[in-house]
Amino acid sequence: MRVLITGGAGFIGSNFIHYWIKKHPEDYIVNLDKLTYAGNADNLKSVENNQNYLFIKGDICDPKIVGEAMKGVDVVVNFAAESHVDRSILDPSPFITTNVLGTQVLLEAAANARVKRFHHVSTDEVFGALGLASSERFSEDTNYNPRSPYAASKAASDHLVRAYFYTYKLPITISNCSNNFGPYQFPEKLISLAITNLLEGKKIPIYGDGLYVRDWLYVEDHCEAIDLILSKGKEGETYCVGVDNDIANIDVIKKILKMLGKSEKDTERVKDRPGHDRRYAINSEKIKKELGWQSNHTFEKSLTQTVKWYQDNSNWWKALKNKEFDAYYKKQYKTLS
Ligand code: NAD
Ligand code: DAU
Repeated sequence: MRVLITGGAGFIGSNFIHYWIKKHPEDYIVNLDKLTYAGNADNLKSVENNQNYLFIKGDICDPKIVGEAMKGVDVVVNFAAESHVDRSILDPSPFITTNVLGTQVLLEAAANARVKRFHHVSTDEVFGALGLASSERFSEDTNYNPRSPYAASKAASDHLVRAYFYTYKLPITISNCSNNFGPYQFPEKLISLAITNLLEGKKIPIYGDGLYVRDWLYVEDHCEAIDLILSKGKEGETYCVGVDNDIANIDVIKKILKMLGKSEKDTERVKDRPGHDRRYAINSEKIKKELGWQSNHTFEKSLTQTVKWYQDNSNWWKALKNKEFDAYYKKQYKTLS
């Protein structure tokens, strides 16, 4: 089988490529990635000489490159996106271009090439925000209510993917998952930023009261979910992926502080994110019941492994915390004290 992975040099995409090559070594993988600030060829160093792997540097918004990459492809897994909420607040425009227009370019090429499956990797953020006091969880039946430019662009992409299923009979599936963590995550997201800041002797920036809740999913569990959706998922269907692991940011931060022998003195309150979604939580009954998916990793153990990975791979993340990153950090983080 020939699999086109877009955004394979990013966090989840590179984990997925490592996972896929191990699990399905007979398949041929084409990785199409623009290598934005978040894309990193180093994530795939160990596979770059594999004869069943081809890297194409290119933009999913470019129909010519996408058409070339799509030749002979059986299955597409679309990870390529601008993915950071805070950057979408600073400048929404690349989010609309890549996440909306880019997805449509991919869909058009996939329909022309008559691929057997187009899987779109989406997010729980399309559903909006849950209240802290409520016990509600997002499911496949939850109405869309995106509240950040990032979430709105992902919601638009999901709608386009479904439109290609109904209008052009493109065999699609969609997954909406919760916050991932693990190796190779660009050090701008809460867990990767917290660990690397502490390792650099810096503080962890906490938005607002720190009581915002996320449902943390280990990236390997997510890869296994996508694999199952590709093999057993029904065309046209959406699957929500989460682990009932809803934890307040402050509690995640306390765990990381403890693992690295630090204290709350190593945190700082910063200006809150505008329109900050209070709580995300996912009901994963459908993928569990229909496809037999389950999480194989506990939060405690996988967080410990993740902390160790960043300790052991400081060259990887230090190269990313460069001048460009410093400029972003200064713009984004305004301390309250
Ligand atoms: P990431 O930012 O780490 O990686 C994105 C990758 O896409 C990078 O390699 C980048 O170079 C590439 N890319 C960006 N624009 C491109 C373009 N125009 N053409 C080609 N490549 C382009 O993102 P991630 O965290 O790995 O997320 C992957 C996908 O999963 C995204 O679609 C995101 O919306 C979704 N998602 C992420 C999470 C999470 O917690 N990280 C949770 C739910 C859903
Ligand atoms: O829910 C899935 C989504 O998870 C994905 O679709 C996105 O691509 C991914 O970036 C992530 O979005 P979040 O905004 O939830 O993740 P982030 O790591 O940016 O923030 C997690 C929580 O931590 C959120 O409540 C904001 C807070 N936070 C974040 C950062 C970066 C802080 O308190 N301080 C910080 O410095």
